[in-house]
Amino acid sequence: MANRFSTERFAQIFTKWREIFVADIGAGRKSVALNAILSLDDFEKKARRHLPGPLFGYIAGASETNASLRNNAQSFTEYAFRTRVLRDVSKRSAKTTLFGRTYDAPIGIAPMGISALMAYRGDIALATGAAEAGIGMIMSGSSLIRLEDVAAAAPHAWFQAYLPGEPDRIDALVDRVANAGFETLVLTVDTAALANRENNIRAGFSTPLRPSLRLAWEGVSHPRWTIGTFLKTIIRHGIPHFENSYATRGAPIIASNVMRDFGKKDHLNWKHLERIRARWNGNLVVKGVLHPDDAAHAVEIGANGIIVSNHGGRQLDATMAPLDALPGIAERVGRDIAVMVDGGFRRGADIVKALALGADFIFVGRPFLYAAAVGGEPGVIKAAEILKTELHRNMALLGVTSLEDISPDYLFRIGPQQHTIPHG
Ligand SMILES: Cc1cc2nc3c(=O)[nH]c(=O)nc-3n(C[C@H](O)[C@H](O)[C@H](O)COP(=O)(O)O)c2cc1C
Repeated sequence: MANRFSTERFAQIFTKWREIFVADIGAGRKSVALNAILSLDDFEKKARRHLPGPLFGYIAGASETNASLRNNAQSFTEYAFRTRVLRDVSKRSAKTTLFGRTYDAPIGIAPMGISALMAYRGDIALATGAAEAGIGMIMSGSSLIRLEDVAAAAPHAWFQAYLPGEPDRIDALVDRVANAGFETLVLTVDTAALANRENNIRAGFSTPLRPSLRLAWEGVSHPRWTIGTFLKTIIRHGIPHFENSYATRGAPIIASNVMRDFGKKDHLNWKHLERIRARWNGNLVVKGVLHPDDAAHAVEIGANGIIVSNHGGRQLDATMAPLDALPGIAERVGRDIAVMVDGGFRRGADIVKALALGADFIFVGRPFLYAAAVGGEPGVIKAAEILKTELHRNMALLGVTSLEDISPDYLFRIGPQQHTIPHG
């Protein structure tokens, strides 16, 4: 705390504000230089400096001890590549078709709530950046921009819903999403209870944000975010609200005494999925599956895809990594529906590993939100280009020309073998 309010710190902050007014605004500069960004992890370093501490902490953090988060990162190190050589790989392509649409690569942006607090019009920057880069994007149900506005800006983005076990609310939101023209609805199912995000409390983050001296200081000490995202949003669009949790407008993002309405999420069950399937004519995807039996149940009900996911480690702590759940699920339902996965993907090499283990499509979360925060839509496009380039290069070095060629034969398991835990 002493350090936070030192004379030196004040001098640094004064210099930042001066730079913004003299160098950035004076010179008409709108966004940060992206040339120095070489990998997705570079966005995180920039975002850590750019965003107020509580907001960065909200994105970066997970739940309780962060064990799920660590498992996700660790799971990629369990596999090494076994390459093939002397094959002409000059005509390689990472293009893929999913639900009738062709993408430049089997990559999409995972749904992330309150993106518009991190980046100016964040959901739109993510959606249009993804469309421009030829990758997929799922907008979050916990978003601060009306789903109709995102659909208008990026007609092929998908919509992710958090639904409570309340039929009236389910029907109303499903109808609203359909009327907006979305083709694909993603139902997130790993949030039966609010996660224990101690790190958010320690970092001073909550939804809604509670006005405090600490928060005001964060704004003063992060002027680029304050001017370029926060004030710009308030001046042009008013105080952001949760726009799409249900069919009607929800709580504001900043309020001293308003509580968010999370509905009866712990009532949600397979019967509700059946109800959604009966009402929703588009593609239906279930996100947050880790067990092959649940994947099979989703197939029986008529889902078109599943996302193998532990919510980026942000729900139940100490879950298995999605990459470790993937082979069993792909083996069980891979021929019946699209098997997608997310959690910890940061490199083209990570994507190749998931493809080899049976994934059809891979979603990436945090790095894209950091990219949008520091670079807006151009940042999102840059992040997508980095991943696509890495994937393309890795395909050549692996000795494959199409995604279909990528099989377990290219992997060597170096991590600990799985132990079977007896039932009962
Ligand atoms: C800031 C943030 C907000 C998120 N919000 C949502 C959300 O609204 N809906 C959802 O289904 N998943 C949400 N997630 C989880 C992501 O969709 C995804 O499962 C996870 O971030 C993937 O892991 P990665 O960040 O390591 O790539 C969120 C994740 C982050 C980091």
